[in-house]
Amino acid sequence: MYHSPSSSILCHSPRVTVIGAGRVGSTLAQRIAEKNLADVVLLDIVEGIPQGLALDLMEARGLELHHRKIIGTNNYADTTGSEIVVITAGFPRKPGMSRDDLLRTNAKIVVEAAKKAIAHSPDAIFIVVTNPLDVMTYLAWQATGLPRARIMGMAGVLDSARFETFIAMELGVLPGDVKAMVMGSHGDLMVPLPRYATVNGIPITQLLDAATIERLIERTRNGGAEIVELMHTGGAFFAPASATCVMVESILLNQSRLLPVAAYLQGEYGLNDVFIGVPCRLGCGGIAEVLELSLTEEETQALHLSAESVRRNIDKAQEILTNVSK
Ligand code: LAC
Repeated sequence: MYHSPSSSILCHSPRVTVIGAGRVGSTLAQRIAEKNLADVVLLDIVEGIPQGLALDLMEARGLELHHRKIIGTNNYADTTGSEIVVITAGFPRKPGMSRDDLLRTNAKIVVEAAKKAIAHSPDAIFIVVTNPLDVMTYLAWQATGLPRARIMGMAGVLDSARFETFIAMELGVLPGDVKAMVMGSHGDLMVPLPRYATVNGIPITQLLDAATIERLIERTRNGGAEIVELMHTGGAFFAPASATCVMVESILLNQSRLLPVAAYLQGEYGLNDVFIGVPCRLGCGGIAEVLELSLTEEETQALHLSAESVRRNIDKAQEILTNVSK
């Protein structure tokens, strides 16, 4: 029998670690594996859950026709050498709660996860998904000491996808033909930009009246809460997992897609020392570029208002963490 010599190119399968085996984490693991993007390590503190989910996903491989491995674990040693680490660990919202209400419970969880993950994958690119998103990304950045190219938060892709969905539903067009850009924090103060939303290049401002656009913006702002209200237990996970997977794919395949992600700003848009959603080019090194769009005065004001609320919550989170460690 002929055995071909092993080649590092053919043998290397990238590895993505997903921390938190809840609905977002497990759906993301499924998407990454079934799109044949990478092997996945699914990690959770609850014993048995990630192992069970991984085995279930492994048993679907023959049916879904892919060969990526999914490993379920409670041990960070199994995440060693990951190209990408995604943090989804933490508590989701209950009806009536805002994302900011999760600050207290999730700050410690995210900091711990980030510290443990970076110790085993010092070269990884980190994507934070846990809410309140922009604040948790800041805490993970501090905990890891990563350069800004290699740490970002997922929210803008999801918020833009929701805005695109509502525009497509209103106009009765194919969702994939609608392109929109939602900047700012992942919260009530997010900044959807109708001026930059189009249907195959046609600005929506030519297709919809101002009152309708305002209604769709409001629904986008409330997009996560609308699902929490409907489901009572937990919130959205299919679209959040898809949005995260788009970012993972752009990095792993070096697609250089231009996507809104929560990035660390150093003077862009007149903002400093804060993570907030802005358009970035995502490639194999992480954030290749932060783009500065020209914004109207009103849009800039909205972005700054959004950043101020993130900043206040960063301060609050740091206070909570200091008290915890005392
Ligand atoms: C949402 C959660 C993921 O917007 O924040 O559904």
